[in-house]
Amino acid sequence: MIRSVIAGIGMYVPEQVVTNQDLLKYMDTSDAWIQERTGIQERRYAHRTQETTTTMAVEASRIAIERAGITPQDIDFIVFATLSPDYYFPGCGVLLQRAMKMREIGALDVRNQCSGFVYALSVADQFIRTGTYKNILVVGSEKHSFGLDFTTRGRNVSVIFGDGAGAVVLQPSTEEGRGILSTHLHSDGDSAEILAMYNPGTHANHWKEEKYADFDDAEIGQMFFSHAMIDNGQIYPYMDGPAVFKKAVIKFPEVIMEALQANNLGPADINMLIPHQANLRIAQFVQQKLGLGDHQVYNNIQRYGNTTAASVPIALCEAWQEGRVKPGDLVCLAAFGSGFTWASALLRW
Ligand code: UT7
Repeated sequence: MIRSVIAGIGMYVPEQVVTNQDLLKYMDTSDAWIQERTGIQERRYAHRTQETTTTMAVEASRIAIERAGITPQDIDFIVFATLSPDYYFPGCGVLLQRAMKMREIGALDVRNQCSGFVYALSVADQFIRTGTYKNILVVGSEKHSFGLDFTTRGRNVSVIFGDGAGAVVLQPSTEEGRGILSTHLHSDGDSAEILAMYNPGTHANHWKEEKYADFDDAEIGQMFFSHAMIDNGQIYPYMDGPAVFKKAVIKFPEVIMEALQANNLGPADINMLIPHQANLRIAQFVQQKLGLGDHQVYNNIQRYGNTTAASVPIALCEAWQEGRVKPGDLVCLAAFGSGFTWASALLRW
């Protein structure tokens, strides 16, 4: 039986450390509020002009590729998860392919926000299992710092997010019991707008208002991006935090249990749970709900904040580097976020 194994893993976080105290320069917040509600102490911000979502992905990918013992020219497919791409289009996958001088391979972008990396891993896993590709680069990278509202208006969102990238090389293996055992993907679009960045976009929600009734198509077309959007802060992410929190604490345990049950395993069998780093309180709730010990869960949101699609591979990489993920360990990856979308992956390291 062919299964996908993680043959190499890498991560990159920018040098610039931004503490909670630093954010007080821009908005009315406090270190106490941020730590109490989220567990975050500091995050990293990319260099304003010299680093992008793609350049950070390149750094993480170089390490993952080297650790897999291959070269960029050996990669035969890219799956790139991000919500903060360098361009609205084309996606970051092709930019990574170009930057790393890879062959003319396929490059796919995944837009699933916080669950993006687990979705991307699941897509790559199918290509490996079917024998289509032998070396797939799966990446999660985000440069949030470029698109946050740093006024008090946006503080409930801005204090949470940080920049960074993580990458893995997926390869086939026939070694008994090793590799990705199963992946589980879910969505519920009913709450799509409660954690979203609306503009620019084609939804035309604003233009449905009465005052725009006499505008013709060309005029409305020009309003894809407007001064009003900027003035009203509608170009920044919107989040109803408490609503997201309530759903997350239900769906995280559910999707982890789904993965365990699909493999006739239980929480006690987990050696390491890597939850998406959305909020330390959510991770602690999930840990408690599943009856997991501290040694079974890895958190690093304290140092990096929420890096969305990059959070799972960064946390997995650090856990592995610290020797907390070893050969034979049962590792569970789980994520929940905007969409809503949520997902899990169970693997034997
Ligand atoms: O990874 C993507 C998925 N996202 C998540 O999973 C996020 C889930 N939600 C959360 O993590 C939490 O809801 C937050 C951390 C975002 C917010 O924590 P909360 O305990 O739910 O706070 P809240 O939004 O209910 O706001 C409580 C108070 C409000 O003031 P009033 O109305 O009680 O006077 C906010 O205005 O805290 C205020 N507030 C802040 N105060 C200081 C909101 N943001 C801040 C801030 N600093 N940064």
